[in-house]
Amino acid sequence: MTVERTLILVKPDGVQRGLIGEIINRFERRGLKLVGMKFLQMSPELAETHYAVHKERPFYQSLVEYIVSGPVVAMVWQGHDAIAAARATMGTTNPVQAAPGTIRGDFGLEIGRNLVHGSDSPENAAKEVSIFFDDVELVDWSRNTESWISESA
Ligand code: RTP
Ligand code: MG
Repeated sequence: MTVERTLILVKPDGVQRGLIGEIINRFERRGLKLVGMKFLQMSPELAETHYAVHKERPFYQSLVEYIVSGPVVAMVWQGHDAIAAARATMGTTNPVQAAPGTIRGDFGLEIGRNLVHGSDSPENAAKEVSIFFDDVELVDWSRNTESWISESA
């Protein structure tokens, strides 16, 4: 079993549209465990650090403008293969192609308003978690339903 942590953002459109609870619920009922959460307005500097990997892409400027356009919810979710599991729950990047039942497939229509961010690799997850959270802000707790979610618990 590979226990991973992933950085998830409810992007400004998700917050503005009143979908924070709906989106959190998707990850929570999947069985992932919440270990960190904060509500914040990202600065341009934070956005540029977070999206540094996309700096040369044509959509970079609009992506940074989008992510700083309103508050976001930043979360760290933990669990078996959490990175892939969270991305499956989110759906593909372009909501038009995202399967119904996924967050983007249920609530989105355009790639530039795709509601959520999720880390795409263990390396990027570690980097992204450290951009948004200090170690002391991540809570080490045991869940008493763990053995009903994870065979190895
Ligand atoms: P995310 O990072 O937000 O979880 O999304 P992702 O991995 O599925 O997509 P990624 O390739 O990392 O792109 C980051 C975000 O940039 C916007 N985007 N726009 N106009 C375009 O062609 C385009 N491509 C990507 C999306 O908001 C995407 O989530
Ligand atoms: Mg990405």
